[in-house]
This record gives sequence, C-alpha cells and structure tokens, in this order.
Amino acid sequence: MADPTKADEPQDAMPNVSDVEVAEVHSEEEAVAALDANVERGEPILQVRNLVKHFPLTQGIVIKRQIGAVKAVDGVSFDLHQGETLGIVGESGCGKSTVAKLLMSLETATAGEVFYKGQDITRLSGRALKAVRRNIQMIFQDPYTSLNPRMTVGDIIGEPFDIHPEVAPKGDRRRKVMDLLDVVGLNPEYINRYPHQFSGGQRQRIGIARGLALNPEIIICDEPVSALDVSVQAQVINLMARLQDEFNLSYIFIAHDLSIVRHISDRVGVMYLGKMAEVGTDEQIYEYPTHPYTQALLSAVPVPDPEAREHRDRIILTGDVPSPANPPSGCRFRTRCWKAQDKCAQEEPLLAIPERFKGSDTPAAHESACHFAEVKDVVHAA
Ligand SMILES: Nc1ncnc2c1ncn2[C@@H]1O[C@H](COP(=O)(O)OP(=O)(O)OP(=O)(O)O)[C@@H](O)[C@H]1O
Ligand code: SF4
Ligand SMILES: [Mg+2]
Repeated sequence: MADPTKADEPQDAMPNVSDVEVAEVHSEEEAVAALDANVERGEPILQVRNLVKHFPLTQGIVIKRQIGAVKAVDGVSFDLHQGETLGIVGESGCGKSTVAKLLMSLETATAGEVFYKGQDITRLSGRALKAVRRNIQMIFQDPYTSLNPRMTVGDIIGEPFDIHPEVAPKGDRRRKVMDLLDVVGLNPEYINRYPHQFSGGQRQRIGIARGLALNPEIIICDEPVSALDVSVQAQVINLMARLQDEFNLSYIFIAHDLSIVRHISDRVGVMYLGKMAEVGTDEQIYEYPTHPYTQALLSAVPVPDPEAREHRDRIILTGDVPSPANPPSGCRFRTRCWKAQDKCAQEEPLLAIPERFKGSDTPAAHESACHFAEVKDVVHAA
C-alpha cells in the first residue's frame, strides 16, 4: 500500500525504469518471452525503486493505537544485472534483511517498486506472484535453525517441489535431489540423513541446494556465511561463485562485513539506517570510497599486511546508531559523521554521482549520498 505522506519527499536520483515493451501477449509462454526480451536487451533483471517498509509502532493492549513507525527501509533504490552479484553491507538493524524479505515478497512494501524483468512484483498476487517467486529464491543466515531437524535432507531439498510440482514430477524427485546434493559437493548417498548429522558448512550447502531446486535466476543470500568458521566461509563462497557461473545466477549477497562481500561482489551497496549511503563497483567502493560511513567501515576491515595496517587511517565512529523510529533530519549519518556541517542537518543528500565528479572518468564518479563526498584512501594510506 502506498504511503501518501512519502509523496513529497525527495526520491533517490535513480534513472526511471524504462518502459516495458508492451507487446500483445496471448499466452503465459508469450508473456514470459516478452519479459525475457527485456533482460536480453540489457535491462537489469531486478530494479528496485524507492522501496519503503515502515513497521507500525503501537500502544495499548485492547485498543491498539499507532504511535509511530520503525522506518526499517526508507527509500532504497538499486539495480541488479543478470549474472552479477550485488553485495549489500551495513551495521546490524540498518534494514538489510527487510530489503531481502521485500524482494522475496515475504513482507508487503509500504511504498516503492521492485521490477523483475520490467514487471512490478510488489503489485502481483496469486498465480502471477507464485510464478515470479519460483525465480527468486533465498539462502538464510543460520544453517542450524533454517533446516527442519525432523526432516531428512532429501525432504528438505525436495520441499519446493511440493509447491512447484511442474519442476520435478513425483517419480523424478529423488534423482533431482541427488543431483542437487552432487552439485553442492555433498555425497548423494546422504539423502536420508538428518541435518544434525552434518557440519555447519555442510548444512549451508544443503540450504544452497534447496535454493537451487527450482532453477531460480536470482538468489538473495542473507548473511549466508556469517555463522560459519572463517575457513568454511571461503569454501561456501567459492561454491557459490562456481554455481553462479554454472547457472548464470544473479546474487544479492548481504553481509555485515565489507571484507566478506569483496570476494564475491561485482558491485556493493552500503546501507545506513534504512537508506543506501553509497553504491559502486568493487574498485569504486574499496579503493575510492567517497562516503564517510563507507570510509569508517573500511577502516575497520582487518588488514593482513602489518605495514599497511600500521599506516592506515583508523576511523572510530562515536555515538550509537540512531533509532530507525526517529532518524536524524537531513543526512541520517550526521550524528556520527566527523565532517557534518549545518547543511547536513537541513538537507537530505540524495544517492547520486556527486556534482564535482560528474562527467569525469575517475572511479570516484559513483553514487554517494553525501553533500561533501570526497575520496579518502583508507586501506592504502601508506
Ligand atoms: N517485523 C518487524 N516489526 C517491527 N520492527 C521490525 C520488524 N522487522 C525488523 N524490524 C526492525 O527494522 C529494523 C531493520 O531490521 P533488519 O532485520 O532488516 O536489519 P538488518 O540490517 O538485517 O540487521 P542484522 O544485521 O542484525 O540482521 C530494525 O530496527 C528492526 O528492529
Ligand atoms: S552529508 Fe554531511 S553528515 Fe552526511 S555523510 Fe556527508 S558530510 Fe557527513
Ligand atoms: Mg539481518
């Protein structure tokens, strides 16, 4: 449902979603082909525009009164191209999982649009939504709790086939599940085992196999390796990179830590308090960050080289993250930003290429929501 109070607020400066070629379609196959043609023409597979999710804050036990709202996601825009990985990074509570749930249609957006191949999926329901959901799957953070302990691995991986029997008819399911176990590097003979008989890394492989079961095009990975040991994290990330090549998957890879997403992401979006602070390619974000928040996050990433570590500029952020129910005026980061000026409290900085870098081919020319965006060499400050 659209929130009319948002209508006058500034919208992030993202390009408009180009008009979908509206050919006259006569069948479901024709409709799917028309949507595929949009991506083949080079349009992003997913376009997120000014996505908003406000959770109402209520008071009273019998008669509930709304006294405010948690602005978990408050105008987020980004694109995802076919075959690419977009990393989304930010501190706990900044709205990463809520974005994931909105993309999966597990939560209803307060406002904004999510275009899958040019079609707004926030307004779909019934069969049309079910068809889209098949193509967008999710891998969850905790492989210990996201798998039902009373189900065998075969039943867990094959569960999506109950909802979409057209992908694997009953007689074909066991073979399909065994193939999936093989694809994620697990012995197909383990099909009758239970989750507790696997290690954390193996359980996450089971979660990935389940995510792949319906041959999706997009996988939303919400902190898929955060609960794993560092050595196992690398194995799971390598597996995901291999599967991406093999199946031409597009990933949204959510993490707290900039160092984890670097190895798998083509582009990275940095979130702060329900908004994107900065979006750019791997090189732009890690070597030429222009937003103070990204610079602070980067300065906290562990650096293995002792000499580089000694010379780097460590930025310690002071103050707590403000409540998403009552975010600061203007720039949301201003209460913790060492560069904040009066303008930052009065005017909200939009996510756009900063004026001073526009038209130049410097890697600093990428989207940053800061009035005073400038490059700071955080990691290589030798
Ligand atoms: N169902 C809900 N009802 C009310 N508030 C919610 C709900 N879900 C999330 N929130 C709030 O929205 C904000 C964003 O939560 P979200 O889970 O998206 O953050 P996150 O970035 O994924 O955090 P983490 O890194 O800890 O997983 C938080 O303040 C959270 O408390
Ligand atoms: S707009 Fe101002 S407060 Fe916000 S990040 Fe930039 S300098 Fe800091
Ligand atoms: Mg989360």
